[in-house]
Amino acid sequence: MTRQTTQRAFAKLNLSLDVLARRPDGYHDLRSVMQSVDLCDEVDITITDTPKIRVRTDRPDLPTDCENLAGKAAKLFLERTGLSGELGAEIYITKRIPDRAGLAGGSSDAASVLRAMDALLNTNLTDRELYDMCLSLGSDVPFCLYGGTALAEGRGEVLTDLPPFPDCGMLIVKPDFSVSTPVLFTELDKRGFVNSTNTDALLNALLSDHVKRGSEWVLGPLGNVFKEALPPLQRGVVEGVESALLNSGAAFVTMTGTGSAVFGVFPTLADARETDLTSFGTTFAVCPVKKLQR
Ligand code: C5P
Repeated sequence: MTRQTTQRAFAKLNLSLDVLARRPDGYHDLRSVMQSVDLCDEVDITITDTPKIRVRTDRPDLPTDCENLAGKAAKLFLERTGLSGELGAEIYITKRIPDRAGLAGGSSDAASVLRAMDALLNTNLTDRELYDMCLSLGSDVPFCLYGGTALAEGRGEVLTDLPPFPDCGMLIVKPDFSVSTPVLFTELDKRGFVNSTNTDALLNALLSDHVKRGSEWVLGPLGNVFKEALPPLQRGVVEGVESALLNSGAAFVTMTGTGSAVFGVFPTLADARETDLTSFGTTFAVCPVKKLQR
């Protein structure tokens, strides 16, 4: 039996992001169009005969073993399939997705561990069983299971597949700061919710095939409600990157998730590659969108 595999774990962008209300369970109902992109971590997984979970990455500052969401995923998988007493897993993650960026890198690593373990151990879990495990690990993990273009509602876990976003070049910039997700949600609570229609506009455009006409974009601007909840200094940095992206020819720009990564949608991959943002002193990546993997 094959006991080892290497999986690619793709990043996600929030093409739009709105927060509707705080719920009694402490989470918030949101509405977002999520899009996976061809920027990925490489997740190497080996099943072992010792009931121990080991996770290492090529980044010494990131959590290891069961402190890492990928380790939590392996532990959960073995528990739910009744295998935790007899088997373990060794995981090595080559990180390419910036962390604490709103790109769901950790969530995507975790989803890929579940998919890989199901295949390696022939457990043949149903989509529903895998989905439930994903949701136990975090609100963004269910989307990362199959990716593509989807409307995310509820905590982010109520997913509806959408017509694919057109081929384009995404230029992702990660400013040199990170923000805490719970802190930004609390900040939005304090301010009262912004009655935002970012998602409705994009959803209507996608559903009525009104994103592009020929080579012309006909979509309105993209938006993320969390930008308004950022402290002024950080908001200034995000807006500075957005302006630079627009000045360089991006058709649309916005922040993803709770940041701090910002992306620009360029007509083609070549257009995005030609853009030089090194002066921002930030990490960045250029990639196409990634279609649904099911
Ligand atoms: O689900 P996840 O573990 O990724 O969420 C991290 C934190 O973000 C939650 O503990 C919560 O404070 C906040 N959150 C929220 N509403 C959501 C998603 C996340 O309030 N829909």
